Amino acid sequence: MELIYEKSRPGRRAGGVPRHDLPKAEIPAGLRRAVPPRLPEVTEPELVRHFTALADRNFGIDTGFYPLGSCTMKHNPRVNERAAALPGFRDLHPLQEDEGAQGALDLMWRLQAYLAEITGLPGISLQPAAGSQGELTGLMLMRAYFADRGEGEQRDTIVTADTAHGTNPASVTMAGFKLEKVATDERGNLDLSDLRAKVTERTAGLMLTNPSTLGLFDEGIEEVAEIFHGAGALLYYDGANLNAVVGRSRPGDMGFDIVHINLHKTFSQPHGGGGPGGGPVAVRDTIEPFLPSPQVVRDGDVFRLDHDRPKSIGRVRGFAGPFGVFVRSYAFMRAYGPELKEMSDVAVLNANYLLARLRDVFELPYDRHCMHEFVLSARNLKREHGITALDVAKRLMDFGIHPPTVYFPLVVPEALMIEPTETEVKERLDEFVDAMHEIAREAAEDPELLRTAPHTRPVTRLDEVRAAKEPVVRHDFADRATTPAGTV
Ligand SMILES: Cc1ncc(COP(=O)(O)O)c(C=O)c1O
Repeated sequence: MELIYEKSRPGRRAGGVPRHDLPKAEIPAGLRRAVPPRLPEVTEPELVRHFTALADRNFGIDTGFYPLGSCTMKHNPRVNERAAALPGFRDLHPLQEDEGAQGALDLMWRLQAYLAEITGLPGISLQPAAGSQGELTGLMLMRAYFADRGEGEQRDTIVTADTAHGTNPASVTMAGFKLEKVATDERGNLDLSDLRAKVTERTAGLMLTNPSTLGLFDEGIEEVAEIFHGAGALLYYDGANLNAVVGRSRPGDMGFDIVHINLHKTFSQPHGGGGPGGGPVAVRDTIEPFLPSPQVVRDGDVFRLDHDRPKSIGRVRGFAGPFGVFVRSYAFMRAYGPELKEMSDVAVLNANYLLARLRDVFELPYDRHCMHEFVLSARNLKREHGITALDVAKRLMDFGIHPPTVYFPLVVPEALMIEPTETEVKERLDEFVDAMHEIAREAAEDPELLRTAPHTRPVTRLDEVRAAKEPVVRHDFADRATTPAGTV
């Protein structure tokens, strides 16, 4: 497919803007560009066709089944888009004074109350814009909490599981803590003897996903909480997998002190490709004074942003947070009402259905019922036919299915991490099972077909090492006959 720059012809335009009669902006000469940017020059129909063709080549949850483990690619009900586009929400200025934004503040206050109920923790900040930013905020809260108790210097280490999502160690490092990793035992739980040896008076806390990235609920979670609290440390819950437990169990009841929630994964917000998202944090009352400022509060029937929070860690995001995500997630929760737990029940049921139908074809490293996702291994195909998890993933694309997450978590060789979500009907799940069975057959009968897959997609097998090491991310004008749009 031609690049838009290759379609460019001098003088063509997709539209025009009337000349303005405003005074020239006074920009210092040193900051002014000498030459305008070299934008492609195309007509409007060519422009629309170009981007429509690109969009057609893309794959998304609206195109087909997307069982990308850990990412919870569920359907986003369209009615939530309607709610987010209501003029009173859509056109609200972020600097609107509180009196003129009562509806929006009311919605945020209600969302906070729901999240407090779901997590079992009373203090909420809606500010963080993603799960990873929630993690960083949570760790900053831990720092502030220990500094306030005079233990700031002493508590310098955070413990994570060896199955942790990559953002966990990254957040720990960004927050200035040292990292200590704990092993997973043969049932997929935290290894308690390894854990006991690593929790000391220097430990600030644990950062854990439960269910873990193996899709397994930690059977020793109460003991884990006792070990950390017994050592004066805190427990942080990476709520990225909350989709598995809503209405069934609450991180606060498990003993966690700080939680982040991925609104875009558990509730509603189209995501993928890095955003946009929402990563509110929920905390125990002892940590509430340190929450980011401002906080949405209610005085009688009036809602306002409270900036008077002397112990707060300050702002972690501009304005009041990712407001569109709040509206969609709130609308999603209201649509379920008191039956919200059905969401998690069906997510877990769907995952166990797939697990039961695939366990004979792929290896199952931890032979237990799973939660909302599960991890298989393609180790058997590799051993018997030289076929890897990557080959399986690429071949699935030929069946019109997005591949699962592969090679994660790191403790499972040739990992295939599968998360169907609750929004899929049985026919789609069965199609996936059929495709996986077919691929396992092909691995034995025609392995080359898998090694060279995908065959039917716009982009076939990439040289992934070269793509990573020599990425081409800008148009090379030197080699192309593209005329600059003019000079100043
Ligand atoms: C277990 C886990 N933790 C944290 C994150 C980070 O969340 P976000 O992508 O919103 O930054 C993810 C994202 O997939 C995750 O799966």
